[in-house]
Amino acid sequence: MIQIHARAKVNLYLKVLGKRPDGYHAIDSVMMRVPLADTIRIRPAPDGEIAVSGVQGVPEESNLAYRAAMLLKKASGSGEGAQIEIEKHIPMGSGMGGGSADAAAVLNALNRLWNCGMSREDLSALAADIGSDIPGMIWDCPVHVEGRGEIVHPVPDWPVPDVSRLVLQTPPVFASTPRVYSEFRMSDCGVCKNDLQPAACRLYPQIAETIANLTNQGCQNVLMSGSGSTVFAFRP
Ligand code: C5P
Repeated sequence: MIQIHARAKVNLYLKVLGKRPDGYHAIDSVMMRVPLADTIRIRPAPDGEIAVSGVQGVPEESNLAYRAAMLLKKASGSGEGAQIEIEKHIPMGSGMGGGSADAAAVLNALNRLWNCGMSREDLSALAADIGSDIPGMIWDCPVHVEGRGEIVHPVPDWPVPDVSRLVLQTPPVFASTPRVYSEFRMSDCGVCKNDLQPAACRLYPQIAETIANLTNQGCQNVLMSGSGSTVFAFRP
């Protein structure tokens, strides 16, 4: 059995450049990992089956970790299987890439366990098929992402803020990424360092309240992550 930690991310900035013909939005963002993490336990399954447990309310076939394992099995031609148990700590619909972190961690772990011999670049390219945030989360270091998120440049020397002063606050709303993107207007751009924040605040007023509360508490660089709902900030 191996145990791994799949760390959440926050977007230090997120620019939306426009809507693409395929319906996705072109973005420019830097993601950094934060200490909050899901715990994943993986046991080999000699019968070749893939099974995922521990995530409530998501059918196995839609679970990103399950889809990642199936994708790697198919791409590598491996006959191995895995029992994957996920202990969730990263809230869902929170803009911290919880499902994507799990999928990326599973790809990295099974690549080693099954001796697939794929590079991080290979895994990242594979991951783009199942979600725009997963390619960037194959790396642990800060990454600059472009395209719909699948063009990844690791930026290990990016000047990341001091995580010991990091505050993460997730209001009790599931922010739907497709809903936030469809509410987004180009006129939202430049209001703050996350172009999706105005749209998310219009849809989910609790996010605006969380931003106001943290600002009033004297926190610095108060910003929503991804498509919300988490707001992160730094204690003075
Ligand atoms: O890639 P992923 O499945 O995470 O995206 C979920 C949805 O979010 C997409 O179907 C799309 O509506 C929206 N999205 C977008 N532009 C992006 C990423 C996601 O419009 N760059």
